[in-house]
Amino acid sequence: MIHECKQQHDIMSKSKLTYSPDDFTRFDESNDFTFYSQDRFVNHLDSLALSSVRSLIGELVIEDNPVILDLMAGWDSHIPESIRSKKVVGLGLNRNELDNNPALNQVVIHDINADPILPFPDDTFDVVVNTLSIAYIKRPFEVFSEVGRILRQGGLFLVIFSNRMFLKKAVKIWREADDDERIILVEDFFNTTGKFEKPTLFISRGKPRPESDKYFHLGIPSDPVYALYADKKSTFTRRNPRPNITSAYGKPLDNRELRAREKSVGKTLCCPHCGERLSKWAVPDNPFCQTWDNEYMFICFNDHCPYYVRGWELMYRQTNKTMSYRFMYNPDKDCTMPIPVPSAKALKDGIIL
Ligand SMILES: C[S@@+](CC[C@H](N)C(=O)[O-])C[C@H]1O[C@@H](n2cnc3c(N)ncnc32)[C@H](O)[C@@H]1O
Repeated sequence: MIHECKQQHDIMSKSKLTYSPDDFTRFDESNDFTFYSQDRFVNHLDSLALSSVRSLIGELVIEDNPVILDLMAGWDSHIPESIRSKKVVGLGLNRNELDNNPALNQVVIHDINADPILPFPDDTFDVVVNTLSIAYIKRPFEVFSEVGRILRQGGLFLVIFSNRMFLKKAVKIWREADDDERIILVEDFFNTTGKFEKPTLFISRGKPRPESDKYFHLGIPSDPVYALYADKKSTFTRRNPRPNITSAYGKPLDNRELRAREKSVGKTLCCPHCGERLSKWAVPDNPFCQTWDNEYMFICFNDHCPYYVRGWELMYRQTNKTMSYRFMYNPDKDCTMPIPVPSAKALKDGIIL
């Protein structure tokens, strides 16, 4: 125990953040095998968020025939079929889930909280993925350092997380943090080991929850997906650099096409970003709207519109606030502009057509 704490403490002491002694404690400190011996063949996120997880893995793993470790694996590794791996190893606690995971060629049962030394030789893997599980790691500094050891030079470590968790097994600091703080934490785990390049942040949030989802009726957006990923430091430069993916919405519309569509909005009354018909919206009679003299505006209320969806990510990055904007056309001035919205429901009660 003293040895355990010392290792974690030695690495942690290099961190730029300050941790408290109980940060990595949990409500349930019983043996992890007990909790995870129960099979959970469930999806931990809604289908849209899971598809973002899959595409991100698909886009970032650029190695030919990579050897992949799914660290803290369950029954689904979220690895798309487009990746022709040489081998995928799943390390986790539940034998039945792992045996039923179609992506895996090898299963390793190992409790990383009891022993963070990963049971693999140095330089074994091209890619290590850790999905929806980082909340449960008690000794993250040691584990990240170990990942740095078992990855080959230039290999990818991809950590994907959201905001759902088994509360009693999540460590205190994770449980009590908000999404921004969790990003900072994971970034710190990467940086403090000194074994990785500067991590890149990926965010996908604010997207509409799929109608088929069991929580759709609550009106909450799709589960957010955050990822931090970095290559292990290496003495050579890659010939094919890894893509820099920071958002799930791909490239915005081509500028020329967008300008052309914007010019014709007055005639078509269609959103240039998604092509949907704009809704006629009554300008409310309140002091915040007195800058507009007209009674009506035309707004795109399509919750799938890329302009609106991307807005959540952009506003979050720029202001740290949970808000987006919708596309609005002012018929009196014949001009277009964004109108800020704090939620998907906002302004909708003003729709008149
Ligand atoms: C929420 S599930 C996520 C499973 C999978 N990675 C996914 O994305 O669907 C958490 C996983 O972490 C694994 N896990 C939890 N504590 C662990 C530990 N101490 N050592 C190894 N694996 C652990 C469990 O076996 C479980 O499969």
